[in-house]
Amino acid sequence: MAIGFIGTGRMGAMLVRALLGADRPVDEDVWASNRSPDKLSELATIHHRLHPGSNEDLARRCRLLFLCVRPHDTALLLAQLAPLLTPDHLLVTISNVVELDQLATAVPCRTAKVIPSMAQYIRRGVTLLIPGPRSTPADLAFLRDLLGRVSRIFEVDEMQARAATNVVSCGPAFLARFCQAWAEAAHAMQPGISVSDFEDLVWETVRATSELPRAGIAGKNILEEVSTPGGMTYEGLQAMDAALPGMWNEVMRRTTERERQLKASFSLSTAARAGATARGS
Ligand SMILES: NC(=O)c1ccc[n+]([C@@H]2O[C@H](COP(=O)([O-])OP(=O)(O)OC[C@H]3O[C@@H](n4cnc5c(N)ncnc54)[C@H](OP(=O)(O)O)[C@@H]3O)[C@@H](O)[C@H]2O)c1
Repeated sequence: MAIGFIGTGRMGAMLVRALLGADRPVDEDVWASNRSPDKLSELATIHHRLHPGSNEDLARRCRLLFLCVRPHDTALLLAQLAPLLTPDHLLVTISNVVELDQLATAVPCRTAKVIPSMAQYIRRGVTLLIPGPRSTPADLAFLRDLLGRVSRIFEVDEMQARAATNVVSCGPAFLARFCQAWAEAAHAMQPGISVSDFEDLVWETVRATSELPRAGIAGKNILEEVSTPGGMTYEGLQAMDAALPGMWNEVMRRTTERERQLKASFSLSTAARAGATARGS
């Protein structure tokens, strides 16, 4: 089946680039569409295997469609697509705000969700795979195989996706902010070394530490190896222990609350009406 990506913004373009550059090439034709033409033509110039088209072209030619638009653009897009979608299509949203039950009501096709992350830019990291109400074992196996070329796959229920999203998808941004604050604190203490030099030191340390498990030194062992009771690292960890659980709980609480607000103001009723009219129901 041909594969289509609707929306070639940050995530859509990143997924197209990652899959077309994967070590195990994608056999299927890959199509993409975008509302404004520039991003799409730029992507097609770089990737000669990519077929640019309109949203309607993609719905006609591709049986697997990734919806890579923002939630507020989804209803209008689906109103346009719904009359062209059939039970032969598998429609995959990449947004946590778009609830699968609502999506399945708006379109006649099979549905699923995947949550990617910027880490797939270098074909690493984790993609969350979330089955939809009508997705089949074959659909999920296909998505596992496809996205497994550019990431590790972790399957999760939609109701449990928030915390996992905070780790694998928001993770790069959370980690970047953590490292930035660390470098700024180090610079504030020792202004003779620039923030940018401290950022280099922080990231090299993060890179090296992330490789330590390969040498058999992971998680708890790293803490034991580096921190001597009564020493300076030990003291620093005490300070972190006082602050970090509260910080992470607050991150989880606020992202959950924001998702709840966005879901409350999200509706696919325009799309559902367009689909029902097209199906004559
Ligand atoms: N950023 C992340 O790390 C991340 C991670 C996981 C999931 N997500 C989710 O991925 C989704 C997209 O995020 P993003 O950061 O990629 O957004 P983005 O950069 O704004 O890209 C969205 C793209 O969709 C296009 N678009 C909008 N309406 C369209 C339509 N009717 N037909 C065709 N194309 C249309 C836009 O075109 P224009 O060029 O005209 O604007 C834009 O290029 C969001 O739901 C987000 O929550 C993001």
